Formats: sequence, C-alpha cells, structure tokens
Amino acid sequence: MSSASVPVPSTSPADSDLVRAARGLPVTRTPVWFMRQAGRSLPEYRSLRAGTVMLEACQDPDMVTEITLQPVRRHGVDAAILFSDIVLPLVVAGLDIEIKPGIGPVIANPVRSVADVDALPPLEPEALGFLETAVRQLVAELGATPLIGFAGAPFTLATYLIEGGPSKEHARTKAFMYSEPEAWGRLMDKLAVSAAVFLRAQIDAGAVVVQLFDSWAGVLSAADYAERVLPHSRAVFDGLGERDVPRIHFGVGTGELLPLIGDAGADVVGVDWRIPLDEAARRVGPQRSLQGNLDPAVLLADRATVDREVRRIVEQGKAARGHIFNLGHGVLPDTDPTVLTHVTELVHELTTR
Ligand code: CP3
Repeated sequence: MSSASVPVPSTSPADSDLVRAARGLPVTRTPVWFMRQAGRSLPEYRSLRAGTVMLEACQDPDMVTEITLQPVRRHGVDAAILFSDIVLPLVVAGLDIEIKPGIGPVIANPVRSVADVDALPPLEPEALGFLETAVRQLVAELGATPLIGFAGAPFTLATYLIEGGPSKEHARTKAFMYSEPEAWGRLMDKLAVSAAVFLRAQIDAGAVVVQLFDSWAGVLSAADYAERVLPHSRAVFDGLGERDVPRIHFGVGTGELLPLIGDAGADVVGVDWRIPLDEAARRVGPQRSLQGNLDPAVLLADRATVDREVRRIVEQGKAARGHIFNLGHGVLPDTDPTVLTHVTELVHELTTR
C-alpha cells in the first residue's frame, strides 16, 4: 500500500482525518467541526449552564468536559474544541473580566497607558491545573476523536484589553498601536507568552491540534498587520517549541491578509465566507490547508440553500492542499442544532472516499 492511498478510519486522534487534512495527507472523508459548536444553539448546553456564570463554568473541569462533549455526541463532528474562552488566560492571571451575555468580555480596568501595560500580571503555568484536568478527562472520553486546544492571538486580546470590551472600529487599539509603538510591542509580547503558556498546557495534557483565534485582525491593513502584529502571532507558534501538533490560524475579514496569516506559522488557514475557498487557496499557496467557510447565517435559511452552499464549499475546497469543513465564523445562538447535524452528515456523504 503506498502512502498516498486512502487510509482506513483511524483509532488514534493524532492520526485522525482532522490531523491528516491539516497536514495535507489523504483522508477517509472531509473532517467537519463548527466554531462555537458548544454553546447556546444546544438546549442541553443552556440547561447545564443555567445558574453558572461563563468564566466559572470555564474553570470547572467537569462542566468543561461535559459541555465540550455535547456537540460531539449530538452531531458526530470530527473534532471537539475545548470549552473555554480567549480571555480565560487573562482571568486566571488575575484581571477583573466578566463575560456579559449577548455582549462579550468586559474589562474592569482597561489598558490605556504604558504603565497599565507594564502592570499586567503574567500567566503562571501552575495556575492551569483545572485545564489540565479537563483536557485529560476529555481525551479519555473522546477516544479516536481529536481535541482542539485554542488561544486568542495577541492582537484580538489587545483589542479587548484596550477597548475595555467589544468594539466595531477598534479605534483606541489602533491609536495605541500607532502612538505607543514600544509599549504596544511589550503588550503584544506579554500576550504572546500567555497564549503560548495556555496552548502548551492543553497540548501537554493531550490536545492534538491547536487553533489561534485572531478574530479581529481583519480590521488592519496588510502593512500594519505584517509589521505590528504578525511577529507576535508567530511568537505564539514558536513558543510551542518541538510540540508537533498542526496549527490552525483564523480571523474574520482577513481576505487581504490570508498569505500573511499563513506565514505567521500556520498549517491551516481559517477563511471566513467573504472569499471562496478556491480563491483563498490561490492566495495562501499549496503549502497550507484551509478551514471554512460556510456563512453561519446560511444555517438559518431554507434546507435547499443550506445544501447548495455546502456542496459549493466542498467543491471549492478541493482546490486546497487539505480541507477542514467549518463555518466562516461561530455558530449563531439562534441556529437550529438539527441543521448542524444535517450539514455534518451531508459533508461526510459527499466526501467519503
Ligand atoms: O468554539 C467552541 O465551541 C469553543 C468555545 C469558545 C468560546 N469562546 C465559548 C464561548 C471559543 C473557541 C471562544 C473563543 C472566543 N471568545 C473568541 C474567538 C472566536 C470568535 O468568535 O471570533 C472571541 C472573540 C471570544 C470573546 C467572546 N466570548 C465573545 C464575543 C462572546 C459572546 C458573547 C455573547 O454572549 O454573545 C463570548 C462568550 C462565549 N464564549 C460564549 C461561549 C459559548 C457564550 C457564553 C454564554 O453561553 O452565555
């Protein structure tokens, strides 16, 4: 049997279709998972979370385990993603942050000065025992299904820290970046170190793929991204050292940044719905795989539209070195979860070799 022949389904997460697609190796079928697959679209999530605030839930290993498993059981997706949040490393380091339902993370004392940057506490690896416990429990439960670990990229975390909460324009963030370049660099360095600590803890406990979320990087020009952001995202990946797990790197509205997002050290570039995957493959080049890119809003449309869009994306994904089917951003809370199960089944049916 040559190494290029179609593999049989693996019993090892490290040799799963997800990992193989990420590396550009042959797969038994296109792997599928959904960003925000755990969460408010699932009634079982809403009932388990009732009465527990988000950032408490993220630090309770049993709750993390159960919530992470819910979408895997229900939809038969090809990966679990750890239930957590990009701001959790900042919370564990001691910052006063709340996740407000329907709004997002809100920071009590935003970073507005050079002194604020220098006062940011580091994330101590010893504080991540709960995370290690959760990941170990998960890996034991998941069997052959791979677990994706994740972290927020320095730029996206900096937007929350500087704005004090979600924002559209990220104007304060950009103003700080332009007017305090040295402090900006130190802030981004600190966030890169903390992201790497957070990812290493997940990998060392058994996560076999990682995703770095730079959700808001698309607000930057390519020149600013290349000079003031990319080196720090690269530092996160470099901080993983010899840990040989595929790296997914994702942002929204990053059509003009796709080659750079890849250059920061990704095996897989995540693509939103604004650019078709065949065009994304041209921009990213043949040395990386792609993940995406169904518009989450399509899941709220009629079944014929959903099917047509899924088929289109599966076709266009063939232009990439490897394709991981996903949405172009997270599942919207109003999504009917039976549609997510249907999409998973349809991608599998269309791509089984
Ligand atoms: O994908 C998954 O299923 C894994 C879990 C996950 C969550 N947040 C759980 C969550 C992941 C990977 C994240 C990452 C995250 N958090 C990002 C990057 C991904 C992206 O969407 O771009 C960002 C920007 C955040 C910050 C954040 N946290 C936002 C904007 C919100 C939504 C606020 C809201 O209520 O709409 C959160 C809260 C959050 N994170 C929820 C979940 C399930 C909702 C909390 C709830 O159930 O009340």
